[in-house]
Amino acid sequence: MQINIGKYGEVKAILAFKEDEHIEEGKKLYNFIREKELFNGGCGEIYSHLCPQGDKFIIVGLGEKNKLNLDSLRKASFKLGRKLMKLKVESVGLTVPDFQDLSYDKVVQAISEGLLQSEYSFEKYLTEKKTISTVKNVYLDVLNGEEENAKKAIEEAQIIMDGVFLARDLVNEPAMYMTPEVLAANAKKELVGLGVEVEVYGRKEIEELGMEAFLAVSKGSEQEPHFIKMTWNGNPNDDEKLALVGKGLTYDSGGYSIKTNKGMVTMKADMAGSAAVIGVMKSIAMAKLNKNVVGIVAACENMLSGGAYKPGDIIGSMSGKTIEVLNTDAEGRLTLADALWYATEVEKADKIIDLATLTGACVVALGDISTGAITNNKELMENVKNAAELAGEPVWQFPSNDEYRKLIKGDFADLKNSVSGGAGTITAGLFLEEFIDNTPWVHLDIAGPAFISTKRSYLPKGATGIPVKTLYNLVKSE
Ligand code: BES
Ligand code: MN
Ligand code: ZN
Repeated sequence: MQINIGKYGEVKAILAFKEDEHIEEGKKLYNFIREKELFNGGCGEIYSHLCPQGDKFIIVGLGEKNKLNLDSLRKASFKLGRKLMKLKVESVGLTVPDFQDLSYDKVVQAISEGLLQSEYSFEKYLTEKKTISTVKNVYLDVLNGEEENAKKAIEEAQIIMDGVFLARDLVNEPAMYMTPEVLAANAKKELVGLGVEVEVYGRKEIEELGMEAFLAVSKGSEQEPHFIKMTWNGNPNDDEKLALVGKGLTYDSGGYSIKTNKGMVTMKADMAGSAAVIGVMKSIAMAKLNKNVVGIVAACENMLSGGAYKPGDIIGSMSGKTIEVLNTDAEGRLTLADALWYATEVEKADKIIDLATLTGACVVALGDISTGAITNNKELMENVKNAAELAGEPVWQFPSNDEYRKLIKGDFADLKNSVSGGAGTITAGLFLEEFIDNTPWVHLDIAGPAFISTKRSYLPKGATGIPVKTLYNLVKSE
């Protein structure tokens, strides 16, 4: 699908609010379907009328006027895109009105995003494809004088969705193919050509760096751990650097603290944090953002074998802190401990965001709708919240204080990797806080929204690419 500025299209799409009893274009048809209650203007509701020789209209509901926001525009245009596909339409025209409360380029961007979202599917292993895109051209008729801004907004939507779709593809790929090595190869394949420097370390270099916690998790697997560093120097005149650190468990069986089958069956998605980092690095580079960003991923599998780490083990870490392994299924925080220490001490990042499918407790608290957050820095947290709001990817901050901090202290080592008695998302986040040496930091627990069991609005079943859009907005605004 190509989104253009112009007044063409074999079919005319028309946006209508619930309150709109009359509209100008397609007046007669509209009056008729409203009278017969064939169309009520609910958000994402669609009525299509394709007459071979005559009018061709698709009416798209936006819901109640005072509830309109960017997400309702994304949802409505996603539904429009899906309908166009079903009706095998090749080109469509849509007038973008001026919604007073929303900035015009953000409106154009949200509509473009929704349309692009409608074309995503992960069907490489289906012998018969279900999603066949027919729409070649969308023409947005924009306000006079807004053509240039609209064009930029469309381009940016395309760039962001490229990153989101890349993250989804990496996550949806089964773990038997998406090994740490293949994840690293994909980072290189996608990013090097765009000017991102990608460095990959294998077991030997990881050992030399002293990443004992990361190595402990990887010990039970036949797959070699890979440490991936992606550097975008978009502003060489500035020494500010933001680190994005993603959890990269290409599979999490739980290890000897083994998961149930139900708990294990979605665990190819335990690298969704790292996929989001790779995805957003792609968008950042495509958009040539003038920011310095380093993406860091410690990728491995958490498996069982005669060589695997065990409950009761005491392990070291790159930071020197020692850790009691009370549960081998609390592995993400161990890999992240070394990745965060690397971001802090080797990269000397000024700010750190980590993203991780870290705790089932977060899914209990927030379902698969919101991301959970822990921070040591109010200002950075505010910026993440604003970026998330703009993206339509809800984030909810959890509390952190010294009473919680006490819970992760070990008896026979400095820290313990698992705490019983509740607040599992908070104690996991505060465990990570031990490895950032007071650098401004936000931890995002994406265990719920990164991978969903039923499609919702414009999000497909499976990998969602959350929070690529949030990260892009954040990097742009920092
Ligand atoms: N990858 C899981 C968390 C997870 C669960 C993500 C469900 C997505 C959906 C993580 O490694 C894990 O197993 N966490 C444990 C921690 C516990 C042992 C302290 C959990 O949440 O049960
Ligand atoms: Mn686990
Ligand atoms: Zn995990």
